[in-house]
Amino acid sequence: MKIREDFQTDPASSNHPINLDPLWLPFTPNRQFKASPKLIKSAEKMHYRTNTGESVLDGIAGLWCVNAGHCRQQIVAAIQSQAQELDYSTTFNLGHEGAFTAAEGIANMAPSGLNHVFFTNSGSEGVDSALKIALGYHRTKGDGQRHRFIGREKGYHGVGFGGISVGGILPNRKMFSSSLLPGVDHLPHTHNLEKSAFSKGEPLEGVELADELEKIILLHDPLNISAVIIEPISGSAGVLVPPRGYLKRIREICDKYQILLIFDEVITGFGRTGHAFASQTFDVIPDMIVFAKGVTNGAVPMGGVIVKSEIYNAFMSGPDWAIEFYHGYTYSGHPLATAAANATLKLYKDEGLFERSYSLSSYFEEAVHSLKGLPYVVDIRNYGLMGGIQLLPINDKPGQRAYNIFEKCFEKGVLVRPAGDNIALTPPLIAEKTHIDIIVDTLRSVLSKSA
Ligand SMILES: Cc1ncc(COP(=O)(O)O)c(C=O)c1O
Repeated sequence: MKIREDFQTDPASSNHPINLDPLWLPFTPNRQFKASPKLIKSAEKMHYRTNTGESVLDGIAGLWCVNAGHCRQQIVAAIQSQAQELDYSTTFNLGHEGAFTAAEGIANMAPSGLNHVFFTNSGSEGVDSALKIALGYHRTKGDGQRHRFIGREKGYHGVGFGGISVGGILPNRKMFSSSLLPGVDHLPHTHNLEKSAFSKGEPLEGVELADELEKIILLHDPLNISAVIIEPISGSAGVLVPPRGYLKRIREICDKYQILLIFDEVITGFGRTGHAFASQTFDVIPDMIVFAKGVTNGAVPMGGVIVKSEIYNAFMSGPDWAIEFYHGYTYSGHPLATAAANATLKLYKDEGLFERSYSLSSYFEEAVHSLKGLPYVVDIRNYGLMGGIQLLPINDKPGQRAYNIFEKCFEKGVLVRPAGDNIALTPPLIAEKTHIDIIVDTLRSVLSKSA
């Protein structure tokens, strides 16, 4: 086994080298990473510290999740005391107070009518759960033939088989294309480089793309369609903001044919767009919201689905001795996750972080758009505290340009996210203007030299 002698757990004292070989890193070019590893030792608020002692400003809230900043004491303390008191208890046939409190807290933040919460451990499980809830809902109503799903090109819905089937990011699908769910169609994506490049906020062009939904529905007969799933803002595709009016039109078409609308708010949830959910920001209420990430500030894995009462109640209509939904995870509503969620939701409220995100968004918008004109920058998009800078790909090496920029920014002490040929920026909601300046100025200097 290969042991890198030069990477110590503690540069000051340890002589214990880290063996990089056994770990298979997800969504990472492993050989490239292991040739030049970036190891994180600790974190506090806006910063990471590497295991060689350098400070790195976190421009992406961990991975779009650490919305309140790192290692917040209120969340750390809640997890510690929960681990002392109740390490584990199932939510199959049992319950513990923290799980009910977390469900209530999340439902209270959700748009009106979405009152019931099903817990999972990740966004991917949340997506697959939502798809199963949609199938089950129609079946309980005697509409079991409604089994088709509609996703969208460039959509990211995690990595379960359901999620990659409704998702529309090619590299995530192509290795598994023979094993995707049958009965899935995709809406066209809404990114229009010719007409909408460098739009600030919602692009003005493209609302008519929503009408493609009706064409797909009519192609299959509406009575065969279960649900439409979309991210209000596509995150992993490089921050694709919906054209003005698009989401409302999608909602109207779903209503017309009694098709469920699922918003995947794994990234957009918990303040990223200036409200608890993007649904509230865009004033469009879906039938289900998938959440994860920011619900625990990234401190303990957790995800879930918030559903309308009508959906929950439909499941509650059979005999009351029977299990209504044959689905769930050993760790659904895990005590550590719910303790983290309860502390996180309180912190968001106490510190007014969603309002803070809203008030910082115009400064952020101006800052990211100031990168226009730099070498290889072909588009810049933003909404709330989400920014995407699209770069011209290197021939035959998709993603490599953004990866190179990510590496150079890291060397300069700033973490940005390569997403295909885009750089995504999603700072924690506690960011100060000076942090935004440092992130953007670092990118400016790296991009300027990339010519
Ligand atoms: C919109 C969206 N849905 C689902 C997921 C999957 O979440 P997880 O990685 O927790 O499974 C992600 C992850 O980034 C996401 O952005």
